[in-house]
Amino acid sequence: MTLELTSRPRRLRRTTGLRALVRETHLQPSQLIYPLFVCTGEGVRAPIGSMPGVCQLSVDQAVAEVGGAAQDGVTTVLLFGLPASKDERGSGASDPHGPVQEAVRAIRAAHPSTTIVTDVCLCEYTSHGHCGLIVDDDVENDSTVERLVDEALSHATAGADVVAPSDMLDGRIGAVREALDAAGHQQVAIMSYAAKYASAFYGPFREAVASTPAFGDRRSHQMDPANADEALRQVALDIEQGADIVMVKPALPYLDILWRIKDSFGMPTAAYHVSGEFAMVKAAAANGWVDGPRAMMESLLSIRRAGADMIITYYARDAARAIG
Ligand code: PBG
Repeated sequence: MTLELTSRPRRLRRTTGLRALVRETHLQPSQLIYPLFVCTGEGVRAPIGSMPGVCQLSVDQAVAEVGGAAQDGVTTVLLFGLPASKDERGSGASDPHGPVQEAVRAIRAAHPSTTIVTDVCLCEYTSHGHCGLIVDDDVENDSTVERLVDEALSHATAGADVVAPSDMLDGRIGAVREALDAAGHQQVAIMSYAAKYASAFYGPFREAVASTPAFGDRRSHQMDPANADEALRQVALDIEQGADIVMVKPALPYLDILWRIKDSFGMPTAAYHVSGEFAMVKAAAANGWVDGPRAMMESLLSIRRAGADMIITYYARDAARAIG
């Protein structure tokens, strides 16, 4: 029997060629940002157990990794630092010879066309693992912002193209912008972790940089997963204070937020596909429960479809190679 149908949508799904012609969303290697964990020492590639394939890298190894990523087509990296020692004030964050600052200089020299973004936060540098200075068991806002400004300035001085404050304290974007401008770094852009949620999906990252809070959690500054309007207010504030790029983090559980932010502000918008999202696919794939490469591409494509112009992902090199 033949149905009398006015439309047969399957016609355009028949061949790879037709499917490519009608594809609405594209993922390019240039839209991917590759996070790197930079540590002290030389020749160090220390695997992170909960993030298969991801390592802590000494500066020389980070430079090599950036070269490999560039060959794959990934030309933007995001640097996190693991200092030799941590203290209560996170002094290492603004050390001109800290791993991030050294890596910025070395990557800039070896791979001048790579774009370097640096994560600005104290949690990798404090002995208690909190994102700021602790007063009465709480992260004290304004004195922490001063430390974040010092950290951002030290990254800009080393040669970072973009600084990315990930702390979620109040007023830090305006303070960082003002200080950068006053120091002659008008061209250094700010990528604001604007809508960053207090999420369970950061677990593996905290193992990677040993930043699990020694007490309490990050709910005094990171957002409640139940809130969406608040994300829009937070993004509006960061734009007003000078953010050039706004970020939503994590990505997949917050695609609605991503969509609303892109739709409302039309700003360059980033999504952070975080460590837990990466680790879940890796673990399921290792068990043979999902097809890892397909789950990776489907995840990244969904994030693009929801409105992300760029995606920060530990899959950056794998995805770029898969795109070809
Ligand atoms: C620092 C920071 C975190 C992540 C990026 N920057 C951890 C946190 O807020 O606890 C998480 C990244 C990831 O999970 O991949 N504040």
